[in-house]
Amino acid sequence: MSKRIEVNDLNVYYSDFLAVEGVSITIEPRTVTAFIGPSGCGKSTFLRTLNRMHEVIPGAHVKGEVLIDGNNLYDPGVDPVLVRRQVGMVFQRANPFPTMSIRDNVLAGLKLNNRRLSKADGDDLVEKGLRGANLWNEVKDRLSLPGGGLSGGQQQRLCIARAITVSPDVLLMDEPCSALDPISTLAIEDLITELKEDYTIVIVTHNMQQASRVSDRTAFFNIAGTGKPGKLIEYNDTTSIFGSPTMKETEDYVSGRFG
Ligand SMILES: Nc1ncnc2c1ncn2[C@@H]1O[C@H](COP(=O)(O)OP(=O)(O)OP(=O)(O)O)[C@@H](O)[C@H]1O
Ligand SMILES: [Mg+2]
Repeated sequence: MSKRIEVNDLNVYYSDFLAVEGVSITIEPRTVTAFIGPSGCGKSTFLRTLNRMHEVIPGAHVKGEVLIDGNNLYDPGVDPVLVRRQVGMVFQRANPFPTMSIRDNVLAGLKLNNRRLSKADGDDLVEKGLRGANLWNEVKDRLSLPGGGLSGGQQQRLCIARAITVSPDVLLMDEPCSALDPISTLAIEDLITELKEDYTIVIVTHNMQQASRVSDRTAFFNIAGTGKPGKLIEYNDTTSIFGSPTMKETEDYVSGRFG
């Protein structure tokens, strides 16, 4: 479980457009890393390169390396489906299958991965996933009802349950709390703190307090102007990024003097 991510000089393209340039970063296991920076600087784009979700967009490609425990995800012959099982993703907008039952939503990632499951094994996995996502008590009596019938915060946790049920090593989360109220947000943050015992976690957030609360390390990305590539400006312990950043750009951003 929980693996080390090492990115070496990664350039990320949409066809000819260089969206993110020259990122090198090492992310240690059992840590939470926050990606922050202004809209359009490439946080989501870069995040999606860490599990090869970027290339599902026609023309999208990368140059450089992403190593997970030393193995380059982009080596020829690496199966992107296996990569995505190892590196799970939770999106900004909770995206359960709305008409599918809560139970089947939890198992959906496994079924897509073509695993045959007995009813008893399925039941165990559903309970484990929902407990892991801190949702079990709220839904255990309505597992056969549609996932779309849950609240936004519950749907987000259902997606987390779905992501962890395939037993990934790394969990990527793109603004998982942006559509949630403060109580659901705190519930997800508590969950992230629990999950880091087992996973390497990367979270994109626009919420500085959230980055301070949940992350060990913070990466600040910025963009010089429209049409220019986003770049990693500074990467350090979260307390340093918010307390004593090295770069003026970082300081301006975290202190709200941006733009
Ligand atoms: N599917 C796409 N095709 C072409 N360009 C894209 C695509 N998705 C994003 N981009 C461009 O890549 C750049 C980075 O976008 P990205 O969504 O990664 O930014 P972000 O930092 O996540 O912003 P936000 O904080 O608003 O979510 C932007 O210039 C954006 O327009
Ligand atoms: Mg984004």
